[in-house]
Amino acid sequence: MTTIKATKKQSRGDRPTEPLIFEKHVAEAVGVDLPPLDVPETEIPSPIRGGCTTLPSFGQHDVMGHYTHLSDRNFSVDGNFYPLGSCTMKHNPRINEWGASLPGFACLHPLQDEDTIQGALRLLYETRTMLEEIAGMHEVSLQPAAGAHGEFTALKVIRAYFSDHGQSQRTVVLAADTAHGTNPASCTMCGASVQTVRTVDGQTDLAHLKEVIANIGPENIAAFMITNPSTAGLFDANIKEISDIVHETGAKLYLDGANMNALLGRVRPGDFGVDAMHYNTHKTFSTPHGCGGPGSGPIAVTEELAPYLPVPQIMMSDDGSFYLDRDREKSIGKVKSFIGQFGVLVRCWTYISACGPSGLQNISETAVLNANYIAVRLRHRYSMPYFDPQKGKFCAHEFVTVPQELLDKGVTLIDIAKRMIDYGVHPPTMHWPIQDCLMVEPTETESKQALDHFIDVMLQIADEISNDIDIVKNSPMESDISRADEVAAARKPTIVYPHK
Ligand SMILES: Cc1ncc(COP(=O)(O)O)c(C=O)c1O
Repeated sequence: MTTIKATKKQSRGDRPTEPLIFEKHVAEAVGVDLPPLDVPETEIPSPIRGGCTTLPSFGQHDVMGHYTHLSDRNFSVDGNFYPLGSCTMKHNPRINEWGASLPGFACLHPLQDEDTIQGALRLLYETRTMLEEIAGMHEVSLQPAAGAHGEFTALKVIRAYFSDHGQSQRTVVLAADTAHGTNPASCTMCGASVQTVRTVDGQTDLAHLKEVIANIGPENIAAFMITNPSTAGLFDANIKEISDIVHETGAKLYLDGANMNALLGRVRPGDFGVDAMHYNTHKTFSTPHGCGGPGSGPIAVTEELAPYLPVPQIMMSDDGSFYLDRDREKSIGKVKSFIGQFGVLVRCWTYISACGPSGLQNISETAVLNANYIAVRLRHRYSMPYFDPQKGKFCAHEFVTVPQELLDKGVTLIDIAKRMIDYGVHPPTMHWPIQDCLMVEPTETESKQALDHFIDVMLQIADEISNDIDIVKNSPMESDISRADEVAAARKPTIVYPHK
């Protein structure tokens, strides 16, 4: 094992604290020369103007410097290993950005006539059909703006289908106890109630699934929402049986497709019985994301659910031209302005086209291999409840560790996570899907050197806990700020600069 040195994050200049931009204000500085006013000057009425903030003045270079310094202080997927479980923080190829910024795409107006945007419509149509093929499902809608929005839209579609078939009493949705928080939230938003189904060893507990169905009454269930591979990083091998159980009740099987990174080109959800699913294209098909956006959450559905998809739908006419179908009799209507998250869909098209079928397969194989490589090397120091190669228990594209032996020595999970920052690693997802766990998703875009560095860091932290526990408990020591009061930051954020 290589000894790693914790390093102070170096950036331009020695900047112990970065003043606010308001504090750096230079009264006479000018950043941009505006042309002379050539229209009559008009006062903005004060009710519209409200309490106006005095904006700081700067030269252009100083503004660039300020924000570049701030960005240097951040962890980023471009600069650091970022194994945030379930978030698929992978490298975003710059060709995607090039494609999305082409003026022919970036400068379109959403209300342009269709005959002037045939190239953009063609891109949408091809994205739609590629996503249909990858899912092995009948029809895709590109409308939803994120994964959670996809869940909501698909549940609306399922409910519309049942209302249309005289079964509007089907208002209960089942979800695994490891489900992402958006699953129950989406159910509630579309007026369905949620019943939790237990998991055992990270897999759906079939006996409990049957018990819940019997208690609720099969005729009241609208869908079972499953994440496969699950948020515990395991492919639910009973998926066919689960699909049969759900379908016997007359309900639909919904796949939370956030983890498609592990399935691409290997398994098609349509083949294991899924009736509706969403993609998180910003994860699986690489758009820079985080802190709420930007995203896109296309949904794929079976033929019987397709008539209820939102409008507009992108279509190809017999003569090969493209148009937006806004006139679908059974559609749930609009869920998003205009035609979806166009810029993110350009990135999605670019990524899939650049990879091709064998490239997509390579993604899932490498993502799974990388996660298993790390898990095998760490399992003796970081306990893994679901991982045991000797018993043939491997993980999918991410794994969960509950480092109980280390916690028993007197550190908390947050201590371990904070110490990782000193070694230039972004902490993994914590305390989800189970208590006291770290969920690690390395993704396929990390090199073996990056994986080895991460492994060395984790082993060294384990050693530090045994030999010099205070280092870990007082970390991070090398970052610009140490431990922020996270509760106060969330509950009492100071978001207004106090003008003196
Ligand atoms: C398993 C799972 N489902 C759903 C979502 C929601 O996706 P989004 O953040 O795009 O709304 C996430 C997001 O992290 C997720 O990890």
